[in-house]
Amino acid sequence: MLKINVAFNYKFTGLIIAGLLFVYSAHTNANDAVQMYTQCATCHGNKGQGNELLKAPVLAGQSAEYIARQLNNFSSGIRGSHEKDTLGKQMLAFSQSLDKDKDVPVLSKYIESLPSISQPKDTVGDLKNGSRYYQAKCGACHSGNAQGNPSFKAPKLAGQSVDYLRRQMQNFVTGIRGTHAEDKLGRQMAMMAKTTSGQELEDILHFIAQQK
Ligand code: HEC
Ligand code: HEC
Repeated sequence: MLKINVAFNYKFTGLIIAGLLFVYSAHTNANDAVQMYTQCATCHGNKGQGNELLKAPVLAGQSAEYIARQLNNFSSGIRGSHEKDTLGKQMLAFSQSLDKDKDVPVLSKYIESLPSISQPKDTVGDLKNGSRYYQAKCGACHSGNAQGNPSFKAPKLAGQSVDYLRRQMQNFVTGIRGTHAEDKLGRQMAMMAKTTSGQELEDILHFIAQQK
């Protein structure tokens, strides 16, 4: 009887220790993430709301998978290494300060947990045309209301700064983004970016700006 009790107690204590370790590590991960994010907040805002003046995009509402991929793309030069990509280069030092296997997943999960922010956007365009063009050319990958689609690895566009979206479209068209040999997804998007321009693109951006 005593033997059984001892064995049971050992098992039970083991479980408690495992539980405590789990809670402790989850807690430190959260603290690490908040700590790590403070260096990002200077440009991307403390809520991930972005900063139009610094041309830093909104991060809140974006999936952890997309954030992690972009951070790794920046640090390995798949994104931001083009000589004319002065804004992308700003990300180089910050992405390289992160450990790909330890920091990037923790920080990306933290950013994913930040609530989406909806900010007023002063776009002009034809909403009806924009909706039509968007559904025909973008919706299949980025989803019907620009929420993004993990199956196609397509990021959320809704809620993003329109100036940032327009600049990325230009970057894809001019080869500043999406030309690196290992940037398969960027190359795919560069092909799509070349299918639209001018007023049609403005209408598409106007449609995206209306999505939450
Ligand atoms: C000095 C300002 C600055 C700091 C600090 C900074 N960023 Fe950035 N970040 C930018 C700019 C500017 C861009 C847009 C680059 C472009 O236009 O291609 C960007 C782009 C990004 C993107 C790509 C977003 C997208 O939609 O594709 C991610 C992800 C990102 N930053 C995450 C971070 C994280 C995480 C940190 C902290 C470790 C950080 N940034 C620190 C300025 C900054
Ligand atoms: C075949 C699927 C596909 C289609 C169609 C498509 N995209 Fe994309 N798009 C992607 C993928 C995948 C990415 C992410 C690329 C990467 O990881 O760097 C992307 C990225 C983007 C980005 C960069 C977002 C950011 O946060 O930096 C913009 C802007 C964009 N797409 C706009 C559009 C618009 C506008 C259309 C329609 C004209 C469109 N896309 C059509 C797959 C697609």
